[in-house]
Amino acid sequence: MEAKELFKMQTRFLVTGCAGFIGSHLVEALLEADHIVMGLDDLSNGFEENIKPFFSHPNFTFTKGDIRDYDLCLSVTKNIDYVLHQAAWGSVPRSIEMPRLYEEINVQGTLNIFESSRHNNVKRVVYASSSSVYGDSPILPKKEGQEGFVLSPYALTKKMNEAYGKLYTTLYDLETIGLRYFNVFGPRQNPNGTYAAVIPKFTHLILKDEAPTIFGDGTQSRDFTYIKNVIQANLKACSAPKESTGKAYNIAYGDSIVLTRVFDVIQEALNKPHLKAIYTKPRQGDIKHSHADLSEANHYLDYRPTYSFDEGIRDYLRNIKKA
Ligand SMILES: NC(=O)c1ccc[n+]([C@@H]2O[C@H](COP(=O)([O-])OP(=O)(O)OC[C@H]3O[C@@H](n4cnc5c(N)ncnc54)[C@H](O)[C@@H]3O)[C@@H](O)[C@H]2O)c1
Repeated sequence: MEAKELFKMQTRFLVTGCAGFIGSHLVEALLEADHIVMGLDDLSNGFEENIKPFFSHPNFTFTKGDIRDYDLCLSVTKNIDYVLHQAAWGSVPRSIEMPRLYEEINVQGTLNIFESSRHNNVKRVVYASSSSVYGDSPILPKKEGQEGFVLSPYALTKKMNEAYGKLYTTLYDLETIGLRYFNVFGPRQNPNGTYAAVIPKFTHLILKDEAPTIFGDGTQSRDFTYIKNVIQANLKACSAPKESTGKAYNIAYGDSIVLTRVFDVIQEALNKPHLKAIYTKPRQGDIKHSHADLSEANHYLDYRPTYSFDEGIRDYLRNIKKA
């Protein structure tokens, strides 16, 4: 689904976290559809290279700044139709080490985005939530309304975002929609550091002929979601009917892929059959299985993911080899 098809008229978007993985893809899709895009990022975890190609685009403006700065939030949400709020600190293990910082950025920063959007009469805020809100619930597939107790400060911040999102819709009539992303992967995802996501990390190491580490026995599973599905979800969430607002929806492909398979597929595609993964103890705060029920997103957002894990990984590796 193209951004152009969804919005007949040129529309003004603010993308927070625009220099990050998901944010930079959103900017690209919106500019391709001829919309006006304001990007905000403090470059704490994102990279200028991710948005450099858009600097010369007449419809793109970049502001380097922090969502903890309320005055700045007030200024960047002025004359904006839709906010796609992606700015946050990710990573479950890192949040366990620094819970206060996560509260400041992910909760207070998001509150600043909601409050400034309300003040400036933004039409709708679509914000990034996470599958981590399901916490210790053993129920599979994961379905909205069947959340357990959260297992990390990161997950708690996303749960708080959802509570504020709902409150802003019911109390202040600001339309909000939360998207519970399930393990998104794709080009421009940072492969480096202790806190990198598994697919870019495995790919990067395997390309360098190094063996990746698997936490636990490798039988843990995830609903790996290709970036193009996430772009579709954001666009559909902007144009979904008003009765869809004030809620959060699972955004995934709707499949369950075990980690050992991820390793095998990447290893085979990169032709490194001799590499063996290193197994170590499971990580604190990680959930064992994650698999999304998509019926709510299908029904309320008309979300129809088109890229399976296999199609996504093929596209991803093609892009990596080209780079
Ligand atoms: N990638 C995934 O699998 C996944 C899964 C679930 C949820 N999410 C959520 O989706 C969103 C985007 O994730 P991503 O993978 O693109 O992460 P990312 O780290 O690549 O992008 C986040 C961006 O936000 C920016 N940022 C951080 N703190 C900021 C602040 N205080 N002010 C302004 N900018 C700030 C960073 O510099 C970065 O560019 C996040 O909210 C994340 O929690 C991602």
